[in-house]
Amino acid sequence: MPLVTSTAMFKKAYEGQYAVGAFNVNNMEIIQGIVDAAKEEQAPLILQVSAGARKYAKHIYLIKLVEAALADSDLPICLHLDHGEDFEICKSCVDGGFSSVMIDGSKHSFEENIALTKKVVEYAHAHGVVVEAELGRLAGVEDSIKVSGKDASYTDPDQAVEFVERTGCDSLAIAIGTSHGAYKFKGEPTLDFERLEIITKRLPGYPLVLHGASTVLPEFVAKCNEFGGDLKGAQGVPEHMLLQAGKQGVCKINIDTDLRLAMTASIREHLQTHPADFDPRQYLKPAREAIKNMVQHKIKNVLNCSNRL
Ligand code: G3H
Ligand code: 13P
Ligand code: ZN
Repeated sequence: MPLVTSTAMFKKAYEGQYAVGAFNVNNMEIIQGIVDAAKEEQAPLILQVSAGARKYAKHIYLIKLVEAALADSDLPICLHLDHGEDFEICKSCVDGGFSSVMIDGSKHSFEENIALTKKVVEYAHAHGVVVEAELGRLAGVEDSIKVSGKDASYTDPDQAVEFVERTGCDSLAIAIGTSHGAYKFKGEPTLDFERLEIITKRLPGYPLVLHGASTVLPEFVAKCNEFGGDLKGAQGVPEHMLLQAGKQGVCKINIDTDLRLAMTASIREHLQTHPADFDPRQYLKPAREAIKNMVQHKIKNVLNCSNRL
């Protein structure tokens, strides 16, 4: 099956009140683990690539790995650029075979964000590619950019309506309290569900996106810590909140940190318990399995998108 855009996936997800998982990919083992899980669960899938991933693995390698995943499965897969920061990177991914791009103009003023997003939408739509944009600002770490809590700002519902109307973007990432990375909340985790409800009412049927949606499961934090990591105080978004978001118009849920934790915990454990191993396959095989298990758990229990093809 060729790559698909997220349009049909989001329509079905909105109507079915569940979310499609968007998982960050950086190498072969991560892609294989994710695709194996989605195959077993018969779930739609978004594989997303950040600027950092493109720099690490090279665009061409990632494209070829995703082509291999398509040939090796019957799944509808959407290949998406995560957090494109300017027109040039979005154009490069549109020209280079992606089916979806994100233009993240959230650090700009409202008007500048609109102008930039509009430019990307015009180019992408002319090439059959869909566009995610972002309004409001998440705290946390993305690539090398760190946004402090005080620079974060929640999405304004009036602005969201105007933004979608004026840009024509196909989906919108909103800020309601999630953040990137392993340290999302200092105290009790809370998301602004009232704000989400207002945005959904003002944009009926429109697909919303939640970034920074890893749960940072305590067992993986403990495992990383036990085998030499230092993740004290790490805390993510509780799973029941993500399920709730899926019922309230959030059609795409972004997960990267949980994959990093699963993979790293597995590799740390393997090397500590098998100190004589030095064949990368010996520790990457269980790491790939750990990714698969994590994604399968997300699809079944957090996204509610098993058997939704
Ligand atoms: O939101 C950012 C994603 O977690 C990607 O992270 O830019 O370090 O690849 P990265
Ligand atoms: P996490 O850091 O919570 O996994 O968020 C990932 C993300 O939003 C990628 O765009
Ligand atoms: Zn993000």
